[in-house]
Amino acid sequence: ILRIHLSLWKTVVASLSNQLLQQILDDVRPLIAQGRVADYIPALSTVAPDYLGIAVCTLDGQLWQAGDADERFSIQSISKVLSLALAQTRYQESEIWQRVGKDPSGQPFNSLVQLELEKGKPRNPFINAGALVICDMLETRLTAPRQRMLEVVRSLAQQPDIQYDRQVARSEFEHSARNAAIAWLMKAFGNFDNDVATVLQTYFHYCSLSMSCTELARCFAFLANQGRDLSGELAIITPRQTKHINALMMTSGMYDGAGEFAWRVGLPAKSGVGGGIVAIVPGEMSIAVWSPALDASGNSLAGVAALEMLAEKLNRSLF
Ligand code: DON
Repeated sequence: ILRIHLSLWKTVVASLSNQLLQQILDDVRPLIAQGRVADYIPALSTVAPDYLGIAVCTLDGQLWQAGDADERFSIQSISKVLSLALAQTRYQESEIWQRVGKDPSGQPFNSLVQLELEKGKPRNPFINAGALVICDMLETRLTAPRQRMLEVVRSLAQQPDIQYDRQVARSEFEHSARNAAIAWLMKAFGNFDNDVATVLQTYFHYCSLSMSCTELARCFAFLANQGRDLSGELAIITPRQTKHINALMMTSGMYDGAGEFAWRVGLPAKSGVGGGIVAIVPGEMSIAVWSPALDASGNSLAGVAALEMLAEKLNRSLF
């Protein structure tokens, strides 16, 4: 079995190349015109729609890239995966999952309706309500949650100058009515312990992390590697916790588009309204794409298409 696996692995690595990635970007570029850059956060609406980048990091540390792979952008909801991983290091499994669910929501990512009906327990940690609960938990157990996140991200991406984009964070805080309403509703149900404004600030800072595809691919390789960083020396989370995160990415990482994404790509993935998507091939590689124009569910239109093509070329899908 090991020999078969090794030979499959070699085939994948052999078929990966910067040219292949460039070809994929050339093929999906026309789709940009069909999407729309997010405009509900003013600081995001000014990003030019024609950026397009991709990076792949295999578990031996090799990196492939094309297009605007080194251009930084707002990772937005992709950060929700990292906050969950941080929470897993500070809380028992049962403590997390009694406060947030594990199922797809079938609602837009910032919806309030279901939260009222389900008594303040968010469906999963990747909708805004769920991520806010996770940030509330981090506020309780970390002395400096913003600083801690920066340390983790910088170390995983092997890039010490990764920063928050303060302008994006401020812009979101100034337009935070809906997220604040979500947090207050959860407080009313007893599922939110800390000061709402303080937790919102932490959440918006996490969303404002500014990273490139290259940095994202490196940073998320631990999810392809049973929770260990690229050096293999540092266990960020356990294999069991890694399985849990990848399963949640599969079912809820692409919001309302998760079903279609499973059908087209078949890999655990997480998107952000900045137009980035991170996808995981367990045991093999992490992939990051970026194209700011989004589809109706808030996922990068050309990004999804690029992942679909790459997964097909490499013959990789969990299904
Ligand atoms: O709170 C928000 O609405 C944004 N900071 C994040 C939303 C997001 O990225 C959803 N992703 N598709």
